Amino acid sequence: MSMEGKKTAPIGVFDSGVGGLTVVREIIRHLPNENIVYFGDTARVPYGSKSQNTIIHFAEQIIRFLKTKEVKAIVIACNTASALALDAVRGEFDVPIIGVVVPGARAAVEETKNLHVGIVGTDATVQSGMYTKVIQSMNPRVQVAEKACPLFVPLVEEGFKEHPVTQEIIEYYLESIKQSDIDTMILGCTHYPLLRSKIKAYMGDRIHIVNPAYETAMDLKALLEEHDMANDGTDEPHSIYRFYVSDAAEKFRRFANTVMPFDVPTTNVVNIEEY
Ligand code: DGL
Repeated sequence: MSMEGKKTAPIGVFDSGVGGLTVVREIIRHLPNENIVYFGDTARVPYGSKSQNTIIHFAEQIIRFLKTKEVKAIVIACNTASALALDAVRGEFDVPIIGVVVPGARAAVEETKNLHVGIVGTDATVQSGMYTKVIQSMNPRVQVAEKACPLFVPLVEEGFKEHPVTQEIIEYYLESIKQSDIDTMILGCTHYPLLRSKIKAYMGDRIHIVNPAYETAMDLKALLEEHDMANDGTDEPHSIYRFYVSDAAEKFRRFANTVMPFDVPTTNVVNIEEY
């Protein structure tokens, strides 16, 4: 895959909505010189309950949009789109595209001592079995237990992190996986890192939690360095972060301001159906 273009060109990051900001946050933390163009598909969220064909179609439209911003690489921050669309879209575009599943899976394979890994994610991610497939392609001896936790996304988006109902739902979803033999668990959905402390407290110290958002930022760093495309920041004093959504810009901005380390000034609405 060629990586032509300028080192100062932005990284394109996309997600079904606000959740991908957990990935942007990690990229900003670990690659502070990179410019970022983010697209959140707020008109069509959630992806977690949609079919593979629909998600591939959405991903193609978003990648076409991001390419108009001259991005040098694209990160699919959405676990669902990474699981269901990455393999289909990767060969279609002449820009490197990485997802969150492979980095998350690799970290879990490296971490597990007893070769038992748990995955939590949306219905679509779990039904795709993609995490299991990738993990077992890396080490066929690893046994994987996957569990869909669809209510975690609305709980996070409604700001219910500290609400008692969230604790109950964590226990409801995670009880069986906690009682299994896993020693490592992947937070296989963009929103789950925002519940990390609660999930960690429930699962206990015995279980190592993998955050694919962090692992993906590390993979992006390696990719840019390997292709000599990392922005060293000498051309611009500050990195530029631009945010686009397909609907409800103000709601996105309010949520973004609770997740990001700075105030998100403006968010632009794009008619993604045009791409
Ligand atoms: N971004 C999605 C994911 O990581 C969660 C929200 C959705 O279902 O669209 O799987």
